[in-house]
Amino acid sequence: MRTEGQGLLQPHLAPSSTPPADPLCGRRILVGISGSIAAVKLPLLVSALVQRGAEVRCVLTPSAERLVSAASLACLSRQPCCLEADQWSHRAPRPLHVELAEWAELVLLAPLSATTLARWVHGLGDTLLASTLLACEAPVLAAAAMNTSMWASPGVRANWQALQSFPTVLPLGPESGLLACDRQGQGRMADPELLLLALESLALWGPKRDWQGRGLLVSAGPTREPLDPARCLTNPSTGRMGVLLAQAARLRGARVELVHGPLALPAGWLEGLNAEAVLTAAEMRQALLARQPGVQAVAMVAAVADHRRSQPLDTKLDKQALEQALASGWEPVPDLLAELVHGRPRGQRILGFAAQTGDVLPQARVKFARKGCDLLFANPIDQPQAGFGGHSTSGWLLGPGDQVGVLPTARKLAVAHHLLSALAA
Ligand code: CTP
Repeated sequence: MRTEGQGLLQPHLAPSSTPPADPLCGRRILVGISGSIAAVKLPLLVSALVQRGAEVRCVLTPSAERLVSAASLACLSRQPCCLEADQWSHRAPRPLHVELAEWAELVLLAPLSATTLARWVHGLGDTLLASTLLACEAPVLAAAAMNTSMWASPGVRANWQALQSFPTVLPLGPESGLLACDRQGQGRMADPELLLLALESLALWGPKRDWQGRGLLVSAGPTREPLDPARCLTNPSTGRMGVLLAQAARLRGARVELVHGPLALPAGWLEGLNAEAVLTAAEMRQALLARQPGVQAVAMVAAVADHRRSQPLDTKLDKQALEQALASGWEPVPDLLAELVHGRPRGQRILGFAAQTGDVLPQARVKFARKGCDLLFANPIDQPQAGFGGHSTSGWLLGPGDQVGVLPTARKLAVAHHLLSALAA
């Protein structure tokens, strides 16, 4: 990002018509699979990585070999799958665990079983996967999965706690749900869509957890203001930017609270975000105000509707009555961001967003002054590779003292990391 001071009133943003590069494209990713039934989800995840242009090699523990097909993984990764019997082959010129460890630029360890966790944390290299992990210096995304009681057992708790201090590791604890052992509780491996997102975050930002110990409240998505039971006023926001910002913060260690309108995103992306779904701006206001006192920062990413009915209608209007209803009976939605700024606790930092068309910066400056937030990210929604729904965006970041930073077109997750660094500063 380029930052311009007061003198330069119109920092230039060159619009881009080509999508920014995928951070996973061309990367060498080692997928380590250990003995949990969640291993059956890995072939499709490997396929997704290959489709994004990653080079993938898989290593299975002996237990994983019994749960998932090595032939499927070899086929989907376009590489031979590494099994326990492959270690110490008389045909290999170098020890396989060292060769794999040095080859990997990123490691996805999923599912991570209680046994492989214990081997890794205690420095035991008695399987091909365990010795590869010990020899590997690349960043590792480790997604645990096991039975609820195993996860709660003191030994696993202690090992998981120890893993938190490994400097190259991004640990993802299991989610709650129905487990294959018919237990309902914590133990499910994080959703594969979330693993892809976390791996992209690891490629962009590494495993650094600079938001540890801090709370962030995020709003995302559109609001939906009903006109009658069949119609509403809303906008094309999908919630992608807000949810990516929330997940990026969570992966950087933040305790995140998410308040969101109707989303068009993979459901797994909401895991770990303490999410509350709302429909209208009034519901969003209530949910945000209730959570605001407990956090150190707020990111108001939601595309809040501008108007709502003064009197909601509970019967469907016919076409004639609709014309009349569209012309009258609306009131402006109060400015939630301005209210959050006005009522914020001491020291809380607030980031606003501005969706603009045309000459963005002058309009964004007026909006920034009106809202009173610490930072405002203004994006040109009428440009290619920016705006609602897509994978990328670009824009200007306005800060105190008339500071303006230019963010050229980048993946929304990369922009999210940049905004989090600015918000944490
Ligand atoms: N916002 C809000 N409450 C509203 C409208 C917007 O909190 N009723 C917040 C958005 O979440 C965003 C910022 O204000 O962080 C700017 O939103 P935007 O839609 O760009 O601007 P508006 O305030 O709606 O102004 P205009 O429609 O005139 O551009």
